[in-house]
Amino acid sequence: MAKQLWNKGLEPDQMIEKYTVGNDRNLDLRLARYDVQGSIAHIGMLCSIGLITDEEYKILLPALEEIAAEIEAGRFTIEDGVEDVHSQVELMLTERLGDVGKKIHSGRSRNDQVLVDLKLFFRDELRHIAAAVNQLFERLLKLARTHKDVLMPGYTHLQVAMPSSFGLWFGAYAESFIDDIELLSAAFNITNQNPLGSAAGYGSSFPLDRLMTTRALGFARPHYNVVAAQMSRGKTERAVASAIAAIASTLGHMAMDMCMWMCPNYGFISFPDELTTGSSIMPHKKNPDVWEIMRGKCNRLQSLPNELTILTANLPLGYNRDLQLMKDILFPATTEIIESLEMADFMLQHIRVKKDILEDSRYDYIFTVEEVNRLVSQGVPFRDAYRKVGAEVQDGTYRPVREVHHTHLGSIGNPAIDEIAAKMKPVIAPLLG
Ligand code: ARG
Repeated sequence: MAKQLWNKGLEPDQMIEKYTVGNDRNLDLRLARYDVQGSIAHIGMLCSIGLITDEEYKILLPALEEIAAEIEAGRFTIEDGVEDVHSQVELMLTERLGDVGKKIHSGRSRNDQVLVDLKLFFRDELRHIAAAVNQLFERLLKLARTHKDVLMPGYTHLQVAMPSSFGLWFGAYAESFIDDIELLSAAFNITNQNPLGSAAGYGSSFPLDRLMTTRALGFARPHYNVVAAQMSRGKTERAVASAIAAIASTLGHMAMDMCMWMCPNYGFISFPDELTTGSSIMPHKKNPDVWEIMRGKCNRLQSLPNELTILTANLPLGYNRDLQLMKDILFPATTEIIESLEMADFMLQHIRVKKDILEDSRYDYIFTVEEVNRLVSQGVPFRDAYRKVGAEVQDGTYRPVREVHHTHLGSIGNPAIDEIAAKMKPVIAPLLG
């Protein structure tokens, strides 16, 4: 006998069932603890408005807590023939408690149930992502401090340009992640609103106390309008995806730098052999596969907002089953970005930085602007100084003075590491709970 909540006695076609359920039995396992949390808040509210009795509440609550414990212990599965986590929990309650179990769905639909599950799930995932970014941020700042005065070439157009430093390089990624956390924070605020009580998307004729469930689930506020609440399915996911894509863009950029600076033609950085990978034919290879995989994953993660936008573009108002497919796209992505952030942090614990890179004559021209500025300080107009040094470069008489005098805020001599640390604090704090 099929176990769909909506089954009214007719056996649904097996192929239709398989096709429409898709990966839900697997993906929904990640929602299970939140589904129970949502149900606990819901029955508390149902009891407060008299839709279930105190006695029934006292039977339902421990049964839900027992299911929660089974979930935490990894003993929860979604049975064959059961469509999703929402159905599984209700089925278990009914099997264990009989008729009382059938009461929890009053004033609720799977549409607001999955919404509330997703909101709670994404809220936690966003916090995990923030923690992983923060750990990497701190690692980068630590490296920036340690290697503050180690110079490296700066490039424009991939041509040797001006002096840079490891202090600037590490600090740049740290500061850049702050902008991504701003976006993550916006995604968190969009996520942190209660959709419960919107039911199928148009509310209920029961006098649901939506502020009570908002408080019980720790949401900052409700989605007031029930239609807006249902519209948040898709909108929430796109906000989360944009934040992940922003982080992936920064991390992927960093991974590219790592691949490049590890290349022996540059040789600016290296990692212990056991953190590199070899070749099956070339015995000398120490390949940056970790950073390449990270670059590839981060590039793919940047397509998330696009994928979700295309999936949800022009859907009619109200719930449509297409929305289910967002889980397939976004669930693996939250894990992937966290794993990549943690991997980057692990690798950076072992990074080795080359000193004296700029002693190499191929970087001689990196100091031309220093020379121009020295002349300017002596009163020579900038364009004349520029022409003079340019002529020396041209006729081969230019000789570099390997000194840098950058002192202004945010430059080599003053990379503002403490300021960057202070800038991150208020942005990340609400997410670190
Ligand atoms: N698995 C469904 C989803 O993720 C749950 C909601 C089902 N609602 C429905 N009306 N069929 O969207």
